[in-house]
Amino acid sequence: MQHSSATRRVILTGDRTTGPLHLGHYVGSLKNRVTLQTTHQQYLLLADAQALTDNAHNPGRVRDHVLEIATDYLAVGIDPSLTTICVQSHLPALADLTLLYMNYVTVARLERNPTIKDEIQARGFGRDIPAGFLCYPIAQAADITGFKATIVPVGDDQAPMIEQTNEVVRRINRQAGVDVLPEARALIPRIGRLPGIDGKGKMSKSQGNAIPLSATVDEIRESVRRMFTDPNHIKASDPGRVEGNVVFTYLDAFDEDHVAVEDLKARYIRGGLGDSLVKKRLEDVLQALLAPIRDRRRALARDPGHVLQVVKRGTARARVITDVTLREVRTALGLFTLN
Ligand code: TRP
Repeated sequence: MQHSSATRRVILTGDRTTGPLHLGHYVGSLKNRVTLQTTHQQYLLLADAQALTDNAHNPGRVRDHVLEIATDYLAVGIDPSLTTICVQSHLPALADLTLLYMNYVTVARLERNPTIKDEIQARGFGRDIPAGFLCYPIAQAADITGFKATIVPVGDDQAPMIEQTNEVVRRINRQAGVDVLPEARALIPRIGRLPGIDGKGKMSKSQGNAIPLSATVDEIRESVRRMFTDPNHIKASDPGRVEGNVVFTYLDAFDEDHVAVEDLKARYIRGGLGDSLVKKRLEDVLQALLAPIRDRRRALARDPGHVLQVVKRGTARARVITDVTLREVRTALGLFTLN
């Protein structure tokens, strides 16, 4: 059922603009967003300011992926008449809210955020943590509250960010003596993080184990061919394992015919089913999924002005909304105003 835009619940989600979107993003999030846009007021944030918090040495990469990811959105079926696509760094109210919220969050609390802890490790910052990086959960609280979003579809690693956002919300509301900001909840997808094609950790461009949404027919074929299966399943007649077998994980995620997949699994476990047959099925599924996305991407590439227009319009709309929130928060806190 379609709700009128006035009563629709507000969803915000964002992507750091550091690389093209891949199949992991698709199952984890993009597919949901295409559905949610018909029932909710949805905002998609091209998080270029957040991307810079661990890419300060590479601003060009952050810049180039703003329109790249916007193109990915449109290619998978995000409809700009239903979803507002906007650029974080061009919403000054979000930066203002961040600065304001920083006074309501302690450094110790930021250092305790488990995702931040993991990411500091993974990025090898050691003691040289950029202040912007440590504070990005505060900026994310600004993103979420700036739009008064109550639903935030994200991967499970982002749950601590929503928790911290809600702490900020409660601090501000308590200080203001009025509920000026709503709390938000994370919407975690049913399917956890998709593993990379090498079976080592989650799919990630930096690990070189990703299948981008823009992959060509040959790249898809090659990725499936190289995909990690069961190293002990040597002959087709050997009994095989489906746990940790990336081909089956992907079939679970992408093949709509669950009965057929369960049947394949049973045959594989029993022995008598070769990897090449299972891979052929997965390749067909992925080719069918990505062909229309690639076609739309190609059509969009012929008209780059269109993507730019969508992003400009969306950002202008988002600016109005986030400016209102900033004004409300400042007023609720009783801060100085000139008008
Ligand atoms: N931190 C998110 C990620 O790495 C991206 C993001 C930025 C985001 N701002 C957001 C997600 C606001 C949800 C809401 O995936």
